[in-house]
Amino acid sequence: MSDFDLIEEAAGYLRQTLAPVPEIAVVLGSGLGNFADALDTPTVVAYDKIPHWPVSRVVGHAGRLVVGEVGGRRVLALSGRSHFYEGHSMGVVTFATRVLGRLGVKTLIVTNAAGGINLRLSAGALMLIDDHVNFMGSNPLIGPNDDRFGVRFPDMSEIYSARLRSVATDVARDQGLPLEHGVYVGVHGPSYETPAEIRAFRTLGADAVGMSTVPESIVARHMGLEVLGISCITNMAAGVLPQALVHDEVMETAQRVKGGFIALLKGIIGRL
Ligand code: HPA
Repeated sequence: MSDFDLIEEAAGYLRQTLAPVPEIAVVLGSGLGNFADALDTPTVVAYDKIPHWPVSRVVGHAGRLVVGEVGGRRVLALSGRSHFYEGHSMGVVTFATRVLGRLGVKTLIVTNAAGGINLRLSAGALMLIDDHVNFMGSNPLIGPNDDRFGVRFPDMSEIYSARLRSVATDVARDQGLPLEHGVYVGVHGPSYETPAEIRAFRTLGADAVGMSTVPESIVARHMGLEVLGISCITNMAAGVLPQALVHDEVMETAQRVKGGFIALLKGIIGRL
């Protein structure tokens, strides 16, 4: 079976299970999966029920798709994603995004936990992603292009929608919620960066670093979706503070900010 056929089979299953499919989808990053519990009248689909859907086993990732209502809108939330550092191919990492695109989702909100590179940021801050630097050493569009998804050389000059960023900025201001913005550099991982790498990324213009989001955003743009990216700065990046990085801190900070994060997401979705 071609990738396209596998994706269509998963989409076919979800079309039947979820009818009608929402136009807005949210990918929830490490420790941010609670948003799925904030949806009214939820329909839950475990990832292992969806044909060919990859199942991630990273701590903090539940692995379920939830459709429900928020702010009067129906939205699809993905709690748990596959990462490149798990050893998956880029095709596996972006399988879910491809399925969403084929389902007719128009707006994709991608969220993640990230390390703060810019000294203006601090642990617990929320950062709107203005743009990204792909430092993952790969690209999800490598290989033959399937024109049913999009063009061979897709434009990435506004990968994170200016319109959606402006909606998010307005919502945060109205809620009195501080919202930073900056450039996200996506790295392969899974080791955290060295202080020298973080200094290099700062010189390159990056404000935050993480191990996800870049592949999904590229594929979503390839398919013509409008993308919004939000990073939860769970820790300052390596070498910024005189302390080692631990995954527990990432999860703790995500827990701490989840109230503001959920309110922001709800507010944004209510205005789309
Ligand atoms: N580096 C890379 N990925 C991350 C970090 C970090 O400091 N924090 C959360 N995800």
